[in-house]
Amino acid sequence: YANGTAAAAAVELASPPAARQPFVIGVSGGTASGKTTVCDMIIQQLHDHRVVLVNQDSFYRGLTAEESAHAQDYNFDHPDAFDTEQLLECMGQLKRAQPVNVPIYDFKKHRRCSETFRKVNASDVIILEGILVFHDQRVRNLMDMKIFVDTDADIRLARRIRRDTVERGRDISSVLDQYGRFVKPAFDDFVLPSKKYADVIIPRGGDNHVAVDLIVQHICTKLGQHDLCKIYPNVHVVQSTFQI
Ligand code: ADP
Ligand code: C5P
Repeated sequence: YANGTAAAAAVELASPPAARQPFVIGVSGGTASGKTTVCDMIIQQLHDHRVVLVNQDSFYRGLTAEESAHAQDYNFDHPDAFDTEQLLECMGQLKRAQPVNVPIYDFKKHRRCSETFRKVNASDVIILEGILVFHDQRVRNLMDMKIFVDTDADIRLARRIRRDTVERGRDISSVLDQYGRFVKPAFDDFVLPSKKYADVIIPRGGDNHVAVDLIVQHICTKLGQHDLCKIYPNVHVVQSTFQI
């Protein structure tokens, strides 16, 4: 208490703290730009807080067996490929500090694992990551901070070829075909235009340690203010000092 009395502090401390709302961070960017890598770096540095990562990929609509046979003709980069209503429901529950079961998506079968879910508990920070998390205004409105990971297209394509052939059961020819038909056009039509909503743009993704450090500092400051403002509603935080 910079300018308050001990009595005022005692009264404030006697009242129970209000349930706090998690701080929600959106992380967007093109395919293989390093979104997940940046999220992992942020989570590692926020080790004193409870942080959960929600992937937009978990909310891909599953293909039927028949559709799956023609998966090469399906546009996984269009906003309609996602069940955004379910994503909103899930994020709403997490914001209300309720645990949720998040689906697990199988990139080889193009559908969700029908019986397994990932249980995500209430937390201080929720990070929502995905190529189109800034596309829908209702999803954007959930976010307290928006980060766009900006990595050159040639580097992203090179990483995507390596990742999809090693981890997602694809061959080089199908990756290149999908990239030209769907991934690049959808990036130009939907992902890149959503960059304007970002508060912070990180060039070079996970290679940019300075940007990640600055973001983590900002989150810690916000979490500190958040805690103080919820517990002591009459306290106003002014930079690093605060007044009653
Ligand atoms: P996104 O979540 O945007 O698709 P990822 O973080 O999963 O991107 O990275 C995509 C691929 O590129 C992964 O195989 C990852 O290991 C690799 N990768 C990510 N960042 C780097 C980097 N800075 N240097 C080298 N490889 C990277
Ligand atoms: O991890 P990343 O952000 O790259 O994941 C999104 C990408 O996954 C999209 O560009 C989409 O083309 C691809 N995808 C796919 N097959 C699926 C679902 C998504 O290739 N079944």
